[in-house]
Amino acid sequence: ASSLGAAAAQSGRYFGTAVPAGKLGTSAYTAILDREFNMITPENEMKWDTTEPSRGNFNFGPGDQIVSHAQSHGQRMRGHTLVWHNQLPSWVSNLSASDLQSAMDNHITTEMNHFKGKIYAWDVVNEAFADGGSGQQRSSPFHDKLGNGFIEHAFRTARAADSSAKLCYNDYNIENWSDAKTQGVYNMVKDFKSRGVPIDCVGFQSHFGTGGPPSSFQTTLSNFAALGVDVQITELDIAQAGSTQYANTVKACMNVARCNGITVWGIRDSDSWRSGDNPLLFDSNGNAKAAYSAVLNTL
Ligand code: XIL
Repeated sequence: ASSLGAAAAQSGRYFGTAVPAGKLGTSAYTAILDREFNMITPENEMKWDTTEPSRGNFNFGPGDQIVSHAQSHGQRMRGHTLVWHNQLPSWVSNLSASDLQSAMDNHITTEMNHFKGKIYAWDVVNEAFADGGSGQQRSSPFHDKLGNGFIEHAFRTARAADSSAKLCYNDYNIENWSDAKTQGVYNMVKDFKSRGVPIDCVGFQSHFGTGGPPSSFQTTLSNFAALGVDVQITELDIAQAGSTQYANTVKACMNVARCNGITVWGIRDSDSWRSGDNPLLFDSNGNAKAAYSAVLNTL
C-alpha cells in the first residue's frame, strides 16, 4: 500500500492522526494529512474549554472546521473528549455537586447532538484513573463531587444522546498489563460489561518513552478485547521514534482482531506536543522518517 491509511484498511483498520484546526490552511501539512490518514482526532477543538467556555455558551466552530475537512477528504472522526479534568474551564470546577451533574449531562448531550452522525467514536471520559499503585480513580471535580459513579453516568448519558456513535474510555499508562492503573480500568470495563453499562471501546493513548511499548502490550490489548470491547491506540508517539519501537506497537495491534485502529498524536515532529522528543513519523520538513517505513511494512 502507498499510505498508512490504505495499508491499515487492508485489514479493516484505520490509521489516524491528531489535527489542530489552525493547520488546515497549511498546504505542506494538509498534503501529508490527506495522503496518509483516514481518521482524525481534533487535538484540542472538542475539549470543554473550547466547546463550552462559559455555562451554556457553546462554541463548535473550531470542531466544525475539522469535521468539514474530514468529510471532504473521506476521513472519519474520533470525538475527543467530553469529560476530562484537564482543559476544563474553572466555572465547571466551581459548581456544587447537583449543578455539576446537570452541567456534565448538558455538556455531553449538547456536544454529542451537535456532532451527531459525524463521529465514529467518542472519548466519553478521558484519564479518570490515578497514576501509581492505587488502581483507583483520580481526584477531579467530577470524582470528588459526584463519586466513582460519574463515569457510568457519563456513558449512560452519552448513549441516550447518540445511540450510533461508539463510546470509549481513553487513558494513558494503561498499556502495561500488571500496572495497578491498567487493572483498575480493566475491572471497571469488566463491571460495565457485566451490568450492561454502555461502553464499546477502550483507547490506549500510548505516549511511550524511547523504549516503546511494554512487552505486555499485546496481552493488555487482547485481555481488554476479550471483555467484548474494541480497542484502539489513540495518541501514539514514541520519544526519538525508534523503528523497532514503532513496529512493535503496530504489531501488538495487528495481532489482536479487535484492535481496529491506530492514531498518532501529530504528523511532523514540529507538530508534536512533546517538544524535543521527535516522537512522530515525519520530520519537521515533512519527510517520512525510518519509523514511517517500519509502520507501513507492519500494517
Ligand atoms: C494535548 C495537546 O496535544 C496539546 O496541544 C494541549 O496543549 C494539551 O493536550 N492526553 C490527551 C490529549 O488526551 O488531549 C492531550 O493533548 C495529550 C495527553
